[in-house]
Amino acid sequence: PKVRDLEGVRVLITAGRNNEPLDPVRFITNRSTGRMGYALAEAALARGADVTLVSGPSGLTPPSGVRTVPVETGLEMYAGVMEHLDAHDVIIGAAAVADYRPKERSTAKIKKKDGPLVIEMVRNPDILLEVGQRKRADQVLVGFAAETNDVLENARGKLQRKKADLFVANDVSREGAGFGTDTNIVTLIDREREVDLPLMSKRDVADRVLDRVLELRLERQDV
Ligand code: C5P
Repeated sequence: PKVRDLEGVRVLITAGRNNEPLDPVRFITNRSTGRMGYALAEAALARGADVTLVSGPSGLTPPSGVRTVPVETGLEMYAGVMEHLDAHDVIIGAAAVADYRPKERSTAKIKKKDGPLVIEMVRNPDILLEVGQRKRADQVLVGFAAETNDVLENARGKLQRKKADLFVANDVSREGAGFGTDTNIVTLIDREREVDLPLMSKRDVADRVLDRVLELRLERQDV
């Protein structure tokens, strides 16, 4: 069994998708199941961390012992993260946050009519970007980049732009990687190195991410 090497470390994880309502019966969403975020929560908990999981809709059951903050929309996820940010040492954005939400949320069901329906969408806040701007020097920020092309280049760009300490890049078009699978093929990218990991379970990916987070924390305490 793994050692409890995250004892006393407070880890905030976002997981899953967002539902962005159009009206009382419809919403716009994406394919994220929450598996990666929940695997991270389980792994961190098993290693002794104090875990907060800000979770969008997911069919998964949060591991008992994890503080769960259930949310639905991107704005709610943003508020949940900002409320708990200060009390955490490590922030991991594993959620597939909705980039856009419908500009209007109708209180009545939208009736069908002849011709096309045009829905105007507006940008949701980029939670990771904002955390990167606000975080303290002692906080470690981890992002996920799900890409279908130019995977490493895109992930390096996001690491810089969002002022993250570590990015987990994966090519979601590959078999055994990405949404709805129990496995993933990722590259861990930080300012010092890039490590390609083979196909492995999301739970094992979670442990490898946490191993690197721990190293980054120790390096920081050395200086
Ligand atoms: O820019 P992109 O969406 O590819 O970045 C992915 C990373 O940023 C993930 O860690 C995701 O959780 C986070 N993100 C966020 N808020 C958004 C969009 C992405 O926190 N609105």
